Amino acid sequence: MQDMQRYEKRAIDAMVAQLSPEGARSVFELGCGTGRLARQLLTDELPGLCRYTAVDVSGTMVAIAAERLAPFAARAEVERTDGSFPLRHRAASFDRFIATYVLDLLDEEELRCALSEAARLLLPGGLLGIVSLTAGERPLERAITGVWARIQRLSPRTVGGCRPIDPTRYLDAWLWRIRHAETVSSFAIPSAVVVAERR
Ligand SMILES: C[S@@+](CC[C@H](N)C(=O)[O-])C[C@H]1O[C@@H](n2cnc3c(N)ncnc32)[C@H](O)[C@@H]1O
Repeated sequence: MQDMQRYEKRAIDAMVAQLSPEGARSVFELGCGTGRLARQLLTDELPGLCRYTAVDVSGTMVAIAAERLAPFAARAEVERTDGSFPLRHRAASFDRFIATYVLDLLDEEELRCALSEAARLLLPGGLLGIVSLTAGERPLERAITGVWARIQRLSPRTVGGCRPIDPTRYLDAWLWRIRHAETVSSFAIPSAVVVAERR
C-alpha cells in the first residue's frame, strides 16, 4: 500500500500545526491517497462536526481511503475525480484546502488550475495547506533534489512523477496571504510547507 513515507510525516505534521485544524468546519483534500491524513485529522484534530471531502484520481486510492474513512461516514466523503479542473464542488464551500505531495506531480498548467480551484472553493479567510517536494537549501539537499529533478525529466515514473517545486511562486499576492512557509527536511529530502490565507 502506498501510505505516507517516513520522510513525508514531519513535513505534513508541520503543515497541520499551522492549519488551525481545531477551528475548521469544512475541509477539502486534493489527492488524498490512502486517506491516512484524513483519518488522522478526523480522529485527532478536527472538531466533531467538521465535514471532510477528499478526492483522488486513482480508483485504487479512493477505495482504500473510503474503507479507512468508513467510521467517519456521516461527515467524510471520498470521491474519484478524472484529474481535471474545475472540480464539481461549489464555490466558497470550504474553510480548509489541503494538498500534500500532489502539486509536485502536476504540470505547470495543472498546478495553476489546482490553485485556482483552491481559491474558488475556499471561503475568504480560509486556509490552504500545501506540502510538496522542494529544492533544498543545504548542499546535500540541493544535490539530492537536483538529481531527483534530472531523473524526473528523463524517467518520471522512477521518482513517482514528482519534481521539486516552490509553491509560493504560484500564490498570487492579490489572492493569497502567505501565513507560513518553511522547508522541512527528513533524510536529506526537503519538503516545502506552506499555509496561505484566501483573501
Ligand atoms: C504522492 S501521492 C500523495 C498522497 C497523499 N496526499 C499523501 O500525502 O500521502 C499523490 C496522490 O495524488 C493523486 N493525484 C494526482 N493527480 C491528481 C489530480 N489531478 N486530482 C486528484 N488527485 C490526484 C494520486 O492519485 C495520488 O494518490
